[in-house]
Amino acid sequence: MKCSAFFAVHATLGSLQLASAMPHQVRADLDSCLNAARLSTDFPGSSGYASASLAFNRRFHYSPAAIVFPASDNDVAVAVTCANSVNLPVSARSGGHSYAAFGLGGHDGSLIVDLSKMKTIKVNSDQTATVQTGNRLGDIALTLFNSGGRAMPHGTCPEVGVGGHSGCGGFGLDSRLWGLLLDQALSAKVVLSNGTLVTASSSENSDLFWAIRGAAPSFGIVTEYRYKTYPAPPSNIIFTYSYTVSPTTASSIFSAYQDFAKASAPPTLGLQASIGTPKSGNKVSIALTGVFYGSKADFNTAINPLLAKVPQPQSTNIKTYGWLDSLQVLGGQGLNTTIIPDGSDTFFAKSLMVPQETPMTQASIKSFFDYIGNQGASSDTVSFPKLEQDFGH
Ligand SMILES: Cc1cc2nc3c(=O)[nH]c(=O)nc-3n(C[C@H](O)[C@H](O)[C@H](O)COP(=O)(O)OP(=O)(O)OC[C@H]3O[C@@H](n4cnc5c(N)ncnc54)[C@H](O)[C@@H]3O)c2cc1C
Ligand SMILES: *[C@@H]1O[C@H](CO)[C@@H](O)[C@H](O)[C@H]1NC(C)=O
Ligand SMILES: *[C@@H]1O[C@H](CO)[C@@H](O)[C@H](O)[C@H]1NC(C)=O
Repeated sequence: MKCSAFFAVHATLGSLQLASAMPHQVRADLDSCLNAARLSTDFPGSSGYASASLAFNRRFHYSPAAIVFPASDNDVAVAVTCANSVNLPVSARSGGHSYAAFGLGGHDGSLIVDLSKMKTIKVNSDQTATVQTGNRLGDIALTLFNSGGRAMPHGTCPEVGVGGHSGCGGFGLDSRLWGLLLDQALSAKVVLSNGTLVTASSSENSDLFWAIRGAAPSFGIVTEYRYKTYPAPPSNIIFTYSYTVSPTTASSIFSAYQDFAKASAPPTLGLQASIGTPKSGNKVSIALTGVFYGSKADFNTAINPLLAKVPQPQSTNIKTYGWLDSLQVLGGQGLNTTIIPDGSDTFFAKSLMVPQETPMTQASIKSFFDYIGNQGASSDTVSFPKLEQDFGH
């Protein structure tokens, strides 16, 4: 899933909402509380406020009460305590890549705790990594690899923040091999809603540790994670088999892909199907693409059962990369987010999960591709969604 061109429908922009007025006294009290702790803050009207309150997904416009930029765990605790003292809701923002701008609260009037000043990343002597939650995935991958060739599983977009990504999942093509990013957490530092900083792990506040691995935004602000890491695979084979075919042929390719992913794809193979509609109607484009973590010989053994069940691809692309180069190719950009400034998009996205035990039936696959190739192609949305299906464990 490339960051620039993922499953997006470019819809019309929502209308810009005017800042909902915050009572003067609330603003003054919040300002003096944050100021007493010397926290840098953007209030409505300040020079940084307009850009700091922009959502990555420009369909959404929210006006936070203020955006505060803590530099330490204690600063985060102070910010939460200040918000409590004036009864304001709080939301953390890590990379800001929430599909629905939940890093801006998902509504007007929150105090946003922007973690972008908290960017420490350290690989410890026991090969665990300590990562503050202001970091983005690309910078984490770079630092881990440059500290003894280490790696972790996570999504492909370098600009996604670790706070949201690790708090709710974190799925990458390497997740069949290693799990989700949240599975790698060994412990976390968390500021609770009452402003108390605690450590959560399997032996300390274990119920909180369980809860933050999947629902972190509902339980606190994680300021730092300690993660398990892995030796980066030396050989990463990125492959794409592409077709532009009739809906019926696309259905049979997709069925073969689904059967293969369910029955015989090894964990070293990360796989996805990207489906789209070419300009000329009644055809569907489908690309079976992914990464194999291992040698060329083992890749051939792994992929041959799938290739035996699908037509000869119209185009094939297979290349072997080192770890960082493979991440860069998947992300479609460099990994250092200081050098590549954050982008934006305007999109609507929706996800459907199919349980492994009850995958899509032949009938549902057929009607899905018939729709994509017919009504889908003539849909009046500016660009019809590029659908992707990833297989987890
Ligand atoms: C272009 C793009 C590509 C993506 N690719 C993938 C992918 O390959 N795999 C995948 O699994 N997902 C992917 N995602 C989804 C992404 O993982 C989630 O949107 C994630 O929540 C973004 O994290 P963030 O920190 O950037 O977002 P934010 O908007 O900062 O935060 C998202 C949510 O988490 C909360 N939060 C943030 N930091 C913390 C914290 N420290 N403690 C507690 N709560 C916190 C926020 O309040 C908000 O509710 C992609 C998203 C985009 C926009
Ligand atoms: C990214 O580039 C900047 C500027 O060159 C550098 O200071 C920083 O250390 C780099 N980050 C990583 C994670 O390598
Ligand atoms: C905050 O909540 C936690 C968990 O309920 C509790 O242990 C702690 O004492 C509370 N702190 C304050 C300052 O009330």
